[in-house]
Amino acid sequence: SNPPFSTRTCRYGTAAIQHAAALIRAGQTVAIPTETVYGLAADATDSAAVARIYEAKGRPSFNPLIVHVPDLATARLYARFDDTALALAAAFWPGPLTLVLPRTEHSPIASLATAGLDTIAIRCPAHEAMRALLIASGRPLAAPSANASGRISPTRAEHVLASLDGRIPLVIDGGPTGQGVESTIAAPSGSVIRLLRPGPITPEQLTAATGLPVETVIGGAIEAPGQMTSHYAPSKPLRLNATDARPGEWLIGFGNVAGDVSLSVSSDLAEAAANLFDLLHRADAGGTASIAVAPVPDNGLGIAINDRLMRAAA
Ligand code: TXA
Ligand code: MG
Repeated sequence: SNPPFSTRTCRYGTAAIQHAAALIRAGQTVAIPTETVYGLAADATDSAAVARIYEAKGRPSFNPLIVHVPDLATARLYARFDDTALALAAAFWPGPLTLVLPRTEHSPIASLATAGLDTIAIRCPAHEAMRALLIASGRPLAAPSANASGRISPTRAEHVLASLDGRIPLVIDGGPTGQGVESTIAAPSGSVIRLLRPGPITPEQLTAATGLPVETVIGGAIEAPGQMTSHYAPSKPLRLNATDARPGEWLIGFGNVAGDVSLSVSSDLAEAAANLFDLLHRADAGGTASIAVAPVPDNGLGIAINDRLMRAAA
């Protein structure tokens, strides 16, 4: 896991963005304002960088994250847009609307960022600081709200420091955010739009832009984090705390348990988190009847890994 940081706060400007972009390209996290709340950003194509987000937040589970992009053309590299999605992007981007769409094939987005799902939550933010970082880093940025797990979302740099001081290298201070509530999350779905999280863009606005009705998904994206029915689960039986493979099992190792493949030979929890969903997918796609996973220590990022493994085994 990471050494503690001496967190720097830099006022938004060219120098701050250059510093932030260098950190992003080095696989680090940076807190930065968007028009909704401050986000904790990392390179969405770098699974170890995404693991650092979860590590800094102390998330008990790997919720799928929103991937931020500078424009629609970049979004279309990672997500498949139907006509409804295109109409919504045309109406509300850049702005506080997140679209949940099918991932493109061979997407470079780390599976940890999408929690192993075949969909991706993507948005093009309006705030100039986040836009500047997207352009300067040249990377799509995964960014949940920049607060420790279970704490309220930050709308000022001081709120970020209140729960993440010493856990991240840099906060870009762009003053208070405009909206103060997280983006609306919508999933176009045939002839309806599923509203997964209410936010600054209202159901009336979604309907006006598309002519389609909005269906609010009860117990949707945010109310029950980690409880979403959309979470990835393998189709095969999964046995936990396995120290060797039984007949017909493909063993995913960790540390001393070598397995057929390993989450992390060196018992590095960030590396294990980064590999988790890829290896579950490989296990699911492979020829064996069932999957076994070695014990993972239940501390730090291991708590989130075990949470996810228990859900996958349930
Ligand atoms: O305003 C915002 O959206 C802020 C700023 C930083 O952009 N970000 C934010 O991210 O609120 P976060 O991680 O706190 O919320 C993302 C939520 C997840 O908890 C999950 O419920 C939903 O988005 N989500 C992400 N991917 C999804 C998917 N493939 N399917 C359904 N829901 C998804
Ligand atoms: Mg949040």
